[in-house]
Amino acid sequence: MEGLDSIFSVSKEETLQKVQQQPYAKKDLRNWPRIWAVGGGKGGVGKSLISANFSWLLAQEGKRVLAIDLDLGGSNLHTCLGVNPPRYGLGDWIHRRTDNLFDLATPTAQPGLMMISGSSDPLSVTSQMEERKKDLFSELTNLPFDEIVLDLGAGSTALTIDFFNCADEGILSILPEPTSVENAYRFIRMAYYRKLLLCPELKNFMPVIEEGADTKNTLGVRSPSDLKEIISRLDPVAGEVFERELAKIKPNIVVNQVRTSQDIEIGKSICGVCRRYFGINARYAGYIDYENSVWKAVRMKRPAVAEFPRSILAARISRLTKALLGEESAIFPR
Ligand SMILES: Nc1ncnc2c1ncn2[C@@H]1O[C@H](COP(=O)(O)OP(=O)(O)O)[C@@H](O)[C@H]1O
Ligand SMILES: [Mg+2]
Repeated sequence: MEGLDSIFSVSKEETLQKVQQQPYAKKDLRNWPRIWAVGGGKGGVGKSLISANFSWLLAQEGKRVLAIDLDLGGSNLHTCLGVNPPRYGLGDWIHRRTDNLFDLATPTAQPGLMMISGSSDPLSVTSQMEERKKDLFSELTNLPFDEIVLDLGAGSTALTIDFFNCADEGILSILPEPTSVENAYRFIRMAYYRKLLLCPELKNFMPVIEEGADTKNTLGVRSPSDLKEIISRLDPVAGEVFERELAKIKPNIVVNQVRTSQDIEIGKSICGVCRRYFGINARYAGYIDYENSVWKAVRMKRPAVAEFPRSILAARISRLTKALLGEESAIFPR
C-alpha cells in the first residue's frame, strides 16, 4: 500500500528485528500464534485496560506480541499503549487498501510489542468486517508473533461473539455491578448459541437450537443445559457433538474495579452460574482493584504496568497474566 512503508519502515524494521530476535519464551507443541480475545459485553468495563497491560507484560516476558483494536466504533487501544493515532488501521485491510496485515502494525515503546489500530470510519467497516472475519483469522495465524491480543468492541453482537469464540483463549472483563454482570451473562449466552449454530455437525438441529434460544420456547428448555438433554435424547451422537462444542467455551473471568471483598467473590458466583445454568467451564483468572493509577496512566498515555510498575494494580495484572498463561493457579477453580 502506497505510503505505508515510508511511514513505518525505519522504526518498524528495528522493532521487527527485536521482535524476531526474541526466543520463544515457552516452547510448545501447539501452533503459534496463540490468539486471545478480550470481551465484556459492555463498554467501559476495562477491556482496553486489560488488553494493553496484558500485551505489555507478555512482551516484557520476551514474547512477540501483537495487540489489535477490534473495537471498530470506539478505537482507543493506541492511546492506552502510548501510540499516536496511527494513520492506517484495520479499516485499510477491511477496505482492501492493503492485503498485508503486518503493514498496519505499529511499534510501541515496549520492545516486542506492536499494535494494529481500529478504524476511523466505523460505519462502513463494521458491515464489511462480517464478510472478512474468516480471512482475518487465517491472516492472523500467519503473522510472526507468539501472542495476538484482540481488544473487542462493546456489546454482544454476532461479530464480536464470533471473534471471541474463534480465539484460542477468551477473557471476559466484568465490573462488580448488576448491569455489567447482566451483560456478561448475555455475552456468555450469545457465545453459547453462536458456537452451536455455527457447528456444521449440528446443522440438522438448528430449528431446535433456535427455538431453544428463545426464552419463551415451547420445548421445555428453561436453561441452556436443558437443551443438551433434549438433543442427547433425540440423537446421542449429536449430544456428544454438542458436549464437545460446549467444552470449547472456557471463558477466563476477570472482575475489574473491585473495591470490597464481596466484589472479589462475584467472580466465583459467575463461574458457578456458568457451570449450572450453561454447562460451561468458566475460570476465574483474577481481579483488578479500582485504582487511581488507571486513569493517571491513561492520561499519561501509558499502560499502568509500565507507568506504575510497583503499584498494587501492576501486581494484580501481573498475577492475572501468570494465571492466564497457566504459570500460577486461577482463583477458581484452583
Ligand atoms: N481498575 C480500574 N480502576 C480505575 N479506573 C478504571 C479501572 N478499569 C477501567 N477504568 C477506567 O474505566 C474507563 C473504561 O476502561 P476501558 O479499559 O477503556 O474499558 P473498555 O475498553 O471496556 O471500554 C477508563 O476511563 C479507565 O480509566
Ligand atoms: Mg476499549
